[in-house]
Amino acid sequence: MKKSLLCLGIETTAHTFGASVVLYEKDKFNVLSNVRDMYKTEKGGLVPVMLSEHHVECFDRVIKEALNISKKSLDDIQLISFSQGPGIGHALRIGSAVARSLSLQLKIPLIGVNHCVAHLEIATIYDSSDPVLLYASGANTQIIAYDGGKYRVFGETLDVGIGNFLDSFGRDLGLGFPAGPKIDLMAQKAKERNAKYIELPYNVKGMDVSFSGLQTILRNKIRNNELKTQEQIEDICYSVEETVFAMLLEVSERAMAHCEKNELVLGGGVACNSRLKEMAQQMCKDRNAKCIIPENQYLVDNAGMIAVLGIKMYNAGNITKIETSHINPYERTDDIKVNWKE
Ligand code: FE2
Repeated sequence: MKKSLLCLGIETTAHTFGASVVLYEKDKFNVLSNVRDMYKTEKGGLVPVMLSEHHVECFDRVIKEALNISKKSLDDIQLISFSQGPGIGHALRIGSAVARSLSLQLKIPLIGVNHCVAHLEIATIYDSSDPVLLYASGANTQIIAYDGGKYRVFGETLDVGIGNFLDSFGRDLGLGFPAGPKIDLMAQKAKERNAKYIELPYNVKGMDVSFSGLQTILRNKIRNNELKTQEQIEDICYSVEETVFAMLLEVSERAMAHCEKNELVLGGGVACNSRLKEMAQQMCKDRNAKCIIPENQYLVDNAGMIAVLGIKMYNAGNITKIETSHINPYERTDDIKVNWKE
């Protein structure tokens, strides 16, 4: 049995400042608190400098709230874990500065973790053993699985991430950030009145996907005033969801067959989408596989998963020295040597 630990996790790869207190005891992870504050806009997208301002403004309050909910104080914390990469530099820098300061102030170890790997490792709390992860978020669209000592990317987007694609489509429609939930709502309205499916490009190349061609076609439809009525807008939202989620599930299924794995786990904010969840469950049912859909609080960017991975890495003998705790905005999933899996 590994050492019991109380860890404070800090997440700041993009729009969210997250803080979470996780207790590891008797080989079990207990997420005592998982608090988030997300930067949102009424119109327009994310501006990196605004993210850092948001994170600076809220970090103290979010951390205090995470400690209060967990009924712990800073003095109880034994390990600080933070997302070191990949992500937006302006945002990552705030989390790493907070984490480094706390580690120095409290004289406790620091561990920098990879955000994408954390999305996979949180599946542990759902008794997952060896899954394929469909990671569908703003900047990231990857199919990841463990193979030969590393988490390897078996498929990914060749251009824009699924969430960024949906947000840019939403921006063209005049929606704010995040646009995904609003697009989903319109797709549901279309389904309630027998939606009309509009044929759209379906771009799957092996285990990779591409959204930029579709993005241009949708932008042109909006600019050329082809979507005049609310019903037409709802139908296009419905058709976009059906098309892009089918692409994601096709490549996930191909990766499961290729890796001979029988578990799919969802991760990323886009995985909160009800239609994507439904399609994932159907695909797994069809191939007799287990479909693990974590609660939404663990699908979106959150510090709970950062703390869980931090504890696993620390217990395997890893530690991040202050001198090497700089951020890695372009860190890849397969850059990480996995030494914590038995
Ligand atoms: Fe994420």
